[in-house]
Amino acid sequence: MDNNIVFQNYFVSRSLRNKQNNHASFVLWFTGLSGSGKSTIANAVEKKFFELGLKTYTLDGDNIRSGINKSLGFSVEDRKENLRRIAEVAKLFVDAGVITIAAFVSPLQSDRNLVKEIVGENDFVEIFVDTSIEECERRDVKGLYKKARAGEIKNFTGIDAPFEVPLNPQIYIKTENTNVEEAVKTIVTFVKNKIELK
Ligand code: ADX
Repeated sequence: MDNNIVFQNYFVSRSLRNKQNNHASFVLWFTGLSGSGKSTIANAVEKKFFELGLKTYTLDGDNIRSGINKSLGFSVEDRKENLRRIAEVAKLFVDAGVITIAAFVSPLQSDRNLVKEIVGENDFVEIFVDTSIEECERRDVKGLYKKARAGEIKNFTGIDAPFEVPLNPQIYIKTENTNVEEAVKTIVTFVKNKIELK
């Protein structure tokens, strides 16, 4: 099948869209345990960008898994396919000129590397939302840790499935020492330069 596919180029390009929007597009990729605060911080960052008049969209684990990826579970293979598809979608959004915010557990370094490769290193900013498993379990916003401990959910990240700590995230947020407002400030300051058209 691949041999019969011819990539089409369109006149309205990413660079034209970026010029019209008057800002660049890229992916902000939040990784961290379930309940670590990824979605909360992503939401606050998007709100800030929106107020600044920037074009944004947020892709979120729970939402995507109830739509295009509802057929996928939490085995190593399914998580990889989940993240591969998200990366391809994020790449399309970036091409559409949108600052794309993605909040996924993305527990394995190899999968995060794959995402970075698909999106392209220059368009990818990795943010590690670091919250200890003890704190995530204490908060247990969705009640999932309780279920995982009771054996009702298998392969739960941090309980009976691994989370590999990102080695070189561009942005590091330790939520136990940082409130949402401070986290937003750190992120916005970091990406300011990326937002500006060169
Ligand atoms: S990922 O590992 O493939 O990146 P993703 O971010 O899409 O995960 O989905 C994680 C969300 O699914 C969690 O926030 C949680 O609400 C829910 N979830 C359900 N089962 C699991 C599980 N076994 N491990 C982790 N998260 C789970």
